[in-house]
This record gives sequence, structure tokens and C-alpha cells, in this order.
Amino acid sequence: MRQEFLTYGIPLIEEDDIAEVVDSLKSNWITKGPKTNEFEKQFAEYVGAKYAIAVNSCTAGLHLALVAAGLGAGDEVITTPMTFAASANVILHTGATPVFADIDPVTMNIDIDQIRQKITSRTKAIIPVHMAGHPCEMDEIMELARENNFFVLEDAAHAVYTKYKGRLIGTIGDATAFSFYATKNLATGEGGMVTTNNEALADKIRIMSSHGMSRNAWNRYSAAGSWYYEILHPGFKYNMTDIQAALGITQLAKLERMQGIRLEIAERYNEEFSRMPELEIPPEKEYARHAWHLYILKLNLEKLTIDRAEFIEELKQEQIGTSVHFIPVPMHPYYRDTFGYQKGDFPQAEKTFERIISLPLYPKMSRQDAEDVVDAVKRIVEKFRK
Ligand SMILES: Cc1ncc(COP(=O)(O)O)c(C=O)c1O
Repeated sequence: MRQEFLTYGIPLIEEDDIAEVVDSLKSNWITKGPKTNEFEKQFAEYVGAKYAIAVNSCTAGLHLALVAAGLGAGDEVITTPMTFAASANVILHTGATPVFADIDPVTMNIDIDQIRQKITSRTKAIIPVHMAGHPCEMDEIMELARENNFFVLEDAAHAVYTKYKGRLIGTIGDATAFSFYATKNLATGEGGMVTTNNEALADKIRIMSSHGMSRNAWNRYSAAGSWYYEILHPGFKYNMTDIQAALGITQLAKLERMQGIRLEIAERYNEEFSRMPELEIPPEKEYARHAWHLYILKLNLEKLTIDRAEFIEELKQEQIGTSVHFIPVPMHPYYRDTFGYQKGDFPQAEKTFERIISLPLYPKMSRQDAEDVVDAVKRIVEKFRK
């Protein structure tokens, strides 16, 4: 057994990352400045989008995109119950109502038939979430959107590097929001990016990310800038800083290498765990390139004498950190009490939640760390199989 506890998730920060941040600090641009602009340009190029707006979180990006799309009171926005609360909270921030459509239990992504059942005359938008880095069935979602005229905002918090039918996530929906939170595939501590091909939408998002200030207000302190600005809307303070963008630039440059390590670990887990009938490994559909943000193992509970909570406790005893993605949003007290959700309303999400464990998966892990996870999981399964 391991001597040291294996932390569930940590970023890969190397000398080049540190040097770039120090360079920002020395340049006096410690808030939004030239590096944020450069990172936006590079990220837009990377995903193939016309516009990218850097923000201080994916949550901020999701919120801005909904505001820019004109969502508000009386509107309904469909999303998945199997996501982080942020995907639904932002709907409430606009005054609109979140409507949950249950998941496909295999991919854990929103189920297209369930979406169909939840569409009403008030449905104005949908937020599909590319769970764990596995893409949603975007062709079908876009077709539904065209038929029903709703706005598609992709929650790509997990999906930097994800491809759908050979195309990087970032240009399929009307807008896409990415997360660069500390444990994400590309980490800037806190941070996010909205990409879109719609110029008017990009302009609104950019303006709303900085108090609703007229364009290019960021350079009002440089020689080329002017003291004059106008507030066009009551916007938000959601901009990224150059300290974060410094990390964004160095992390994007090494994304391919970091993804290689993620893939290697995921394949190693798959190889071992696919042999055990007590376990179900994450899928990778023919239309997908998985970003392996999360490795979510499903327990076949009917073949085990312990439940998920006990399995997690056993892993902790083995010095392995884990997490659970996610507690379905409608099960949280605020959502349950406000919208009156009952057990059984989202049967697939609820059943799936009972059997999932996220295992450590990040580029800072050594091969030995991954082997330790494999050994620990195998030992627990052997000890508690029926
Ligand atoms: C699916 C999903 N959406 C949105 C977010 C919010 O991202 P951020 O922390 O960058 O606001 C997260 C965060 O982990 C997430 O997992």
C-alpha cells in the first residue's frame, strides 16, 4: 500500500508557467492587458472559433452568454441534472427557470429524448454539458435547436481538447464556455473562456464582462487609450487578468503533452478495470475524442457487498483520494425545495449518482501513482465481491 496520500487533483505547474507569471508581475499588467488579449487570440485559433472572450470563471462565461442571448424572467432553459450547480445557478441569475432533462446512463450526458419531452413554448435555450470530457450528441441537439429556435450554450468546463465527430468543441453551439479552474485540463487557477462565431454576441459578452463599458476600455491607461468610456448596460466584473492569462498561454502550449499523460492513465485504468465485472469503465463513443478531464468509474453495486460511500472510504484507507461528479443538481436542498423535486424525478441521474467514483487523473501523476490506484481498486473489489 502507498505511504503517502494521493491527492485527487492537482495542476501541473512547471518552470515555464512560473516564469510567464513572473513576467506579468514585472510588466505591471496584473489585470486584463496584452497577455489576456494574446491568450484569447491563441485559444480562438486553437478551437477554430472567430471570437474568444477571457473571463474569470466558466460560471461567469455561462452567465454572460445567457445574458447576451437575452434570457430573462419567463424563459426556460433546459440542462442536465448531472452537472455542477453552476450550470443551473447561472440560469437563475438571469431570472429564467432551469428545466432538467435526465441523462443517458452510459455517457452521463443529457438524453436527447428527455430534452424533447421538456421543450415548451417557453424554452429559449439549452445548456448541454460535455460530462467528464465526453461530448454530447451535438448534431441531434443542434437539430432540435433549429426546429425549436433555441439558443445552444455548451458547458465545456470539462471539454478543452474534446472532439465531436472530429471537430474540437468550441464552435458547434451558439456559444461555448470553458473552465480553467485549478484541476481542469488547462489550468489558470480560476478562469474561463467563451467562444463563439457570432460577432454581435461576442461584442455583447465582451462589453458585459467589464461593467457594460464601451469597447476597448481595457487600454484606457495606455498611451493609445483615452480616459473616456461609456456604460452601455449594467454589466459585470468578470474579466480575466494577465496573471491568469500568463498561465493560459503556457498551459495551452503544453496541452497536447498533458493530454497524452491523461490518455495514458485512462487507458491503463480501462485495461485493468474492464476485466472486472464489478466495474463499468467510462465509454468513448465512436463520435468522441474524450478529453479525460475526469475518470468516472461506475460500480456494479449488485456484484459488491459495499456501497459507493464505503468504496470511497476503502480507497481513502488505501491512501487514494477520490471525488464524486456529481450530486444531481435537483437533489440539492435549494433546488429540491424551490422546485419541489422528489426522489424518482430523474431516475437515471439518481441511479448513476449512487454508483460513481471519480479516480485521480492528472498529468502530474506518475506511472507508479496510476499503478497504486489500479492496485487499490483491484484489492477492494476482490475483498468485497459477492
Ligand atoms: C460542468 C461544470 N460547469 C461549470 C463549472 C464551473 O466552472 P468554474 O469553476 O470555472 O466557474 C464546473 C466546475 O467545475 C463544472 O464542472
